[in-house]
Parts: sequence; structure tokens; C-alpha cells
Amino acid sequence: MSEKCKKVYITTPIYYVNDVPHIGHAYTTIIADTLARYSRMIGMDVFFLTGTDEHGQKIELAAKARGKSPQEYADEISNRFKQLWGDFEISYDKFIRTTDPEHMKGVQKAFEVMVERGDIYKDVYRGHYCVSCETFFTDTQLVDEEFCPECGRSTTMVEEESYFFRLSKYQDKLLEWYENKPDCILPKAKRNEVINFVKSGLNDLSITRTSFDWGVKLPESMHDPKHVMYVWLDALMNYITALGYGTDEKLMDYWPAKIHLIGKDILRFHAIYWPAFLMSLGLELPHHVAAHGWWTRNGEKMSKSKGNVVDPREIADAYGLENFRYFMLREVPFGQDGDFSQRALIDRINSDLSNDLGNLLNRIIGMSGKYFDFNVQSENVGHYHKEELAEVEAILANVEPFLYEVQTNRYLEELWKTLRIANKAIDTAMPWVKMKENKEDEAMATIALVANILAKVSVLLHPVMPKTTQTIAHALGFEVNNESYIRLIKEKALLERFTIEKVPPLFPRIEAPLVETPGQKAVEEAKKEAETKADKKSEAKAKPTSDEKEPEEENLITIDQFFKVKLKVGSVVEAEEVPKSKKLLKLQVDLGEEKPRQIVAGIKEWYSPEELVGTQVCVVANLKPAKLMGMVSEGMLLAAKDDEGLCLIRPEKPRKPGSAIG
Ligand code: MSP
Repeated sequence: MSEKCKKVYITTPIYYVNDVPHIGHAYTTIIADTLARYSRMIGMDVFFLTGTDEHGQKIELAAKARGKSPQEYADEISNRFKQLWGDFEISYDKFIRTTDPEHMKGVQKAFEVMVERGDIYKDVYRGHYCVSCETFFTDTQLVDEEFCPECGRSTTMVEEESYFFRLSKYQDKLLEWYENKPDCILPKAKRNEVINFVKSGLNDLSITRTSFDWGVKLPESMHDPKHVMYVWLDALMNYITALGYGTDEKLMDYWPAKIHLIGKDILRFHAIYWPAFLMSLGLELPHHVAAHGWWTRNGEKMSKSKGNVVDPREIADAYGLENFRYFMLREVPFGQDGDFSQRALIDRINSDLSNDLGNLLNRIIGMSGKYFDFNVQSENVGHYHKEELAEVEAILANVEPFLYEVQTNRYLEELWKTLRIANKAIDTAMPWVKMKENKEDEAMATIALVANILAKVSVLLHPVMPKTTQTIAHALGFEVNNESYIRLIKEKALLERFTIEKVPPLFPRIEAPLVETPGQKAVEEAKKEAETKADKKSEAKAKPTSDEKEPEEENLITIDQFFKVKLKVGSVVEAEEVPKSKKLLKLQVDLGEEKPRQIVAGIKEWYSPEELVGTQVCVVANLKPAKLMGMVSEGMLLAAKDDEGLCLIRPEKPRKPGSAIG
């Protein structure tokens, strides 16, 4: 890396406070933390930023549903992120909140600069707005003329006075940027998607709202108090307001960012809007915008509303934080989706960490102790193991780009190649035979070679597994820091004479999954929240009498509450696929009523229409009708779902359609 890059600015997205942290959030943050730790270790001056995104209608609504003010609610969830990152020892330098006064001042300042540049004008906005995605869509982008193309929820037609940013003015300049800086968007394949999108034409961007209050007001100089900033304008600015933009600019020399780490769903905002805003502000563009894929469960994106989130704390507590970090960075190629399973995590721990890394250390501890009283010296490594050493040095000299291109899986694979060279060197040289043949020098050279490979790997693995690698380094008599990085990696030196210390096995093998049902806590939380909401609503109508137990207390409901749910047996008379939907089937279900009910169910992955017709199902019959992909659904099927998939709940013997269940 050149001198010019001595300052390294690394960011995560700022997380919305309408959801508690899950492994998707942990993934971005762990990648960013690894890059920050690596950069510090090699001597860079790092500024690592994370934080929370707290404005917007979505948050306003989420707070309202919980009977809280937006600020109270934002404080609460923002703290949960802060606590988690604290417990995960995430080495951030600043945690920004979009409700910080300095941030809000900075956003207003940016708005004024854009106005001065002639990039902002007032007009009327007409468009389809998805509250959940905080995004506007044009007619052509909608699914079935109504539904959000990203989340499938219903959109609302909004017509309001709005300020616009002249995004269209920057179309050519953006295309030039993608052209001139081929690695500005990572992984490189994503760059083409962005280029095609921009080439298809950019509309100016509506950047203020009058329909809600919870946001940054326009600067006073605009004399237009009814407008608040569009959340994405507010949110993206965090990357510069965190450095003091518009207030106290003393950290601005960290700009431009070395890398913005994000998920693929927010690439458009970071690769199109953000650089255009920066151009308007006359600021340099980031070196890289890097978009990772999603962590899924059984192929579906994780989200609290689906009840399929995996709580990172639960997994880290059970399997070890650093093992979890290793797994996340090793398991999926950057940019691709990865399905989370405990089996995959266990396999990585057992094979990569326990077998390859842990055993190697144990072998070295064992042999050095038995033959040399733990005292090792590297004098003859170059003589007896010249080739292996050269091979290892060549691999290690070339790994850094993998990290800065966020190919963490490749980076780790390369390190593991050197561990394999080490293991093979022992198997081929057989130090125990050499000892019998009185070739002590040769045995010592092999042990020293392997110890040195372990030392070098622990330096380069340090950003991924900070504590474990320090333990390995201590066992080999040194400390991982900038000085040892320079000596062992840059200068390719060897540890000369050192005494090995015994350490207990670092990676005990794991036989069976350690968490019964990952994500269960989150599901329970979501359920509890839904119940609290429902109770709040009914509170006004029926306050519990003093001798009635508050259901929330133990998460129990009364029999009366249970009987409010009308469960009935139904016979499926027709079933068909819903066009354009991966998940939905449309059923006509006979519930013994005048005509069959239409039920739209997300079961297409597990059932074909043909196998359903003529079978019986259990239906929640008094659910408020809902619209899914434009079709009314008048009930819900009962089903059970676990890691192996979903199955419908059916009566054991056929029953008359409409028979009550309960
Ligand atoms: N607030 C915006 C970001 C503004 S940045 C100026 C936002 N927040 S978010 O909380 O919804 O998402 C934050 C990040 O988490 C995104 O990068 C998103 O891709 C990532 N993830 C959310 N769910 C995910 C998975 N299931 N898997 C991996 N990452 C995903 O968007």
C-alpha cells in the first residue's frame, strides 16, 4: 500500500434501529473489524466507524407501535447494537448515531452546499413509496402495479412537495468513475450491474419529505420548516459527518474512505447516490464500495418478521466468538449468499481449526518438549527446508490483496495452504526417525520450520482471531504486533531461538450442535412483541381484573384468549401457483361455508398444487383478510417448520369441512 494511503478509513453501514442485531449485521461488522485490525497491525492510521440509522417513517412507526417516543426507542435499540459490538470486542473508533446533533448539523451544511452548487430544486413528487424499504418506485418498477419489487409489501401513492437532487446531472461522471476505477465496486461482478442501472438513465432524486417529522430538518436558511430530509440522504452523510464535516473538520483528512462495507441490498445507494452527493459537495470518492451477500436460513433472507434470524450472541456464546468470526469469514466467498447452519460451523471448527491448526501446534509442543526440552532454534531451517520455506514465504507475501478485496475466504485458504505445507513437512521428514538416527539438527530444523510457519500464520490470522493467535504467539515466545509483523512477514525473518510453552488444546472438537434451535430467542422476542402490541390494543377495551394474571409476565395466555382464535378443518378444493412468486400458492379451501375461501400460503417450496387438492388442512379462520401480491387471503394454514423444512398440520382422520379445532 502506498504512503498516500497511510490513513485508512473503514466503515460499516449504520444499522436501522427497527430490528435487533442478527448475524447479517455481525457479518459486515466482523469483516470491517478484521480489516481495521489488519490495517492497524501493519502500521496504518485507522479510523473505523460504525453506528445506527435512527430517522425515518419506519422507525417512527416502530416506536409508536411500542408506545414509545422515537428517541426513546432509538436509544434503546442503538444501545443493543453498542452493547453487542462491545461484547464482541469490535475495535471501532467511533459509533455514530444519526440523532447526534453534530451529525444533523453536518447534514444541513451538506444540504446548503448542494443548494449553492445548484443541485437542489423544489418540485412536486409523485411516486409509489414503500415505507418498509424507505424507497420510492416508479410505475414500471412495481410488481403487479402495486407491490414493492424489493420486499413485496404494498406501496402507497404519494404526492407531495419535495426538494430534488439533480442526480441525472451526474450520470456521465458516475460512468466515468466506474470506468476509471475498475475496483471501486467490489466484488467486481457487481460493478456491471451498477453500470447497467446507471446507463438505463437516472431520474432526479426526491430528498425531502413533508409526510412525517422524525428526521433532520432543512437548514434554517431554506425557511421551509415542514420538510425533513430523506433518510438515505441523512444516513449516507454519516460517513463524513463522523469526521466532523460541517462542524469541526479536524478528522476530515481520513477522507476519502478506503472502504465502505455494505450488504448487496444497499449497493445502489452507496454506488450511485453517495458518489453523486460527494461530487456535488466537491469531495473525493471512496476507494471501494464492497457489497457482501446475505446470510440465509433454508434459502430465505433472515429477518425478524420471518422469525428466522440467528442471534450472533447465542452462536458466539456456544461456539466461541473467534471460532464464529473465523467461520463467517471463511465459509462464503465475498458477495455470495451463504446459508447458516450449525453443521457447517462445526465442520469448520473440527477440520480447519482443530485438525489443521490446533493439532499442528500440539505436535510442535509435543516434539519440542520430548526431544529438546522446549528449546528451539531456527539456524538450520534454510538448509534442510529451503523449498518449503520459499513456498511459504511466496504465499504469505501475496495474501494482503485478498483481504483488501474482501476475499476473506481466499485469504484464509492461502494461510491454510501453509499449514498444510507444515503438516506435510513433519510427515515427510519424520523428526522421530531422525532422532533415532542421531540426526538432531535435521529434527530440530523441521520442528523450527513448523513453529515458524505457525508464528507467521498467527500474525496474519491475528485480525480474524485476535486472542487465539496471541495465545499461539505466546506459546512460541513472541507477541503479535506491528514489530513482529514487520520482522516475520515483511522482512521474512525467522524466530531465532525460542522456548515453547505448553498451552491447553485451543480448539476442542465438537460432536453435536450446541444450540438447540438457533434464533429461537429472537422468535420468542418477536412473538412477545406481537402479543404486547395486541394486548396494548385490547387494553382500552378490556383491562384485566386485578386477580387475573398479566399474560405477558410468563408469556402465557388465558383460555379465553386462546378461544378467540377460531381454528377449523378445511378441504383443499383447488390449488394453483401464483405467477412471479417463488413462495406462494393460491388455494380454495372448503370450510363448510357458502363458498370456499381463498387462502394464499407461502408453501410452494414444499408442496405442489397437485398434491394438495383433495387433502385436509387446519385453518385459522378468523384472521383479518390480508392482501398478498394483490390477492386477498382469507385465512392461514397451520404448519410446522424446522431445519428440514415445512409440513402442514392435518387432522389425523378426515373430518367434515368447517369442524372446529380446539
Ligand atoms: N440503515 C441502512 C444502511 C444505511 S448506511 C448509510 C440499512 N440498515 S439495515 O440495518 O437494514 O442493514 C444494514 C446492513 O445489514 C446492510 O448492509 C444489509 O445488507 C445487512 N444485512 C441485513 N440482513 C442481512 C442478512 N440476512 N445477511 C447479511 N447481511 C444483511 O440498510
